[in-house]
Amino acid sequence: MKYLNSLLTCATVFIISSCSQSTGFRNVIEHPGKLELIYYGYQLNNPSQYKVIANGKEFFITKSTVVPSVQSVFLLENIAVNDGDEVLDIGTGAGIQAIFAAEKAAKVVATDLNQDAVDDTIYNAKFHDLSHIIDARQGDLFGPVKENEKFDVIIFNIDYPYNEQGKELWEVHERFFREVQNYMKPGATIFYQAGWLWNIPKIVDMIESNNLIINRMVMVNAYKMQRQPIVFTVQRHPNPKTK
Ligand SMILES: C[S@@+](CC[C@H](N)C(=O)[O-])C[C@H]1O[C@@H](n2cnc3c(N)ncnc32)[C@H](O)[C@@H]1O
Repeated sequence: MKYLNSLLTCATVFIISSCSQSTGFRNVIEHPGKLELIYYGYQLNNPSQYKVIANGKEFFITKSTVVPSVQSVFLLENIAVNDGDEVLDIGTGAGIQAIFAAEKAAKVVATDLNQDAVDDTIYNAKFHDLSHIIDARQGDLFGPVKENEKFDVIIFNIDYPYNEQGKELWEVHERFFREVQNYMKPGATIFYQAGWLWNIPKIVDMIESNNLIINRMVMVNAYKMQRQPIVFTVQRHPNPKTK
């Protein structure tokens, strides 16, 4: 379907202006965040690759890997990684968060349930000459994390519920908040993408009931969008409740 859409859009652009043989169409995604997001569609010189530029960097996406979205770039805009940090990016997709984090991090572990996403992250890390920093692994949530691995920064942007049908996805998010402290170094920060305004009360509850605290919550006025880019910055509670 993505392929058909790309071809149709490319055909339209071709008639109106000119459609580069090598890059296909160029669709600048308008959104209320600050970072640029441009979809180039499937490459005419390599039809298996869908190309995206996010904040100036190229990403190549194949097969069933999710294309970076407005939520992805809004999360990117609100993540802080310090020099030498060790970072865990859960649900890495095409590796967008992992690759930007690797500009400063000493090590990034990027995990995804989907092997296609892991393969694309490995490809994109190599393209950006960051294979020595990014270790992409397949698996569910913390499953691919090794024993005793702990992180300064944990990035979480996986599929989230935005309607009745998606409710079963909460199980994964609940498990994330229950288990995440096992993988946090002292002072570690979680950057969590919420995706939908109506998810906020449930997310606040999951955070607070797991002895974590919200340091910051930021969202943009996305009145034209069905879903909202929302990022929570979360840390350990300084005075956790004892049972
Ligand atoms: C919406 S995409 C976001 C990709 C990327 N984080 C970004 O910011 O663009 C969600 C990703 O989470 C992955 N995912 C979904 N459930 C997962 C789970 N339980 N464990 C690990 N990855 C998961 C999906 O395969 C998909 O690649």
